[in-house]
Amino acid sequence: MLISAERIAERVAALGAQITKDYRDKSLVIVCVLRGSFVFAADLARAIGLPLKIEFLGVQSYGEDTESSGVVRITLDLKTPIADEHVLVVEDIVDTGLTLNYLLDHLGMQSPASVRVCSLLHKPARARVDIPIDYLGFTIDDVFVVGYGLDVAHYHRNLPYVAELPTSNRDETRDG
Ligand code: IMP
Ligand code: MG
Repeated sequence: MLISAERIAERVAALGAQITKDYRDKSLVIVCVLRGSFVFAADLARAIGLPLKIEFLGVQSYGEDTESSGVVRITLDLKTPIADEHVLVVEDIVDTGLTLNYLLDHLGMQSPASVRVCSLLHKPARARVDIPIDYLGFTIDDVFVVGYGLDVAHYHRNLPYVAELPTSNRDETRDG
């Protein structure tokens, strides 16, 4: 285990309080990036004391390969226009940064009032593009993690904590 459910809950409460303060009197739209951020977004949304809308964006970052290709495919797009809305993109992890780099371009073209990023995890050792993370849960070393929404080959998303995957189990595909 790398990050316990208790530590996650504490951090989520703090992020929710900060976001509540920063977006007071604004119309907030949370964009939950599927599938990895569904657990984090559900907890974070309930830690924010503001009226808000939740949208879902489905992405596949790596296709069938374990190495990031930089090619991001949108598998589910927003259902409601975000023009003039304050958008908060909620991600599970920023690894190479290529997924968010693409998504921020994609969202930016739809004339939102603002776009900010909230990520549960950040793995700076593998960064290939610089992504401004406005709200961050935890910085981690260059290890492959699962749990609290994050998967390996679609499994382990339901673990209530974040765990490091042993190297021998790492040779699998990953997506959103
Ligand atoms: P990127 O390299 O920043 O584009 O990361 C894209 C996506 O890869 C993330 O949103 C995750 O879904 C996935 N990913 C990156 N690192 C990990 C990890 O350690 N565990 C599980 N998924 C990961
Ligand atoms: Mg993801």
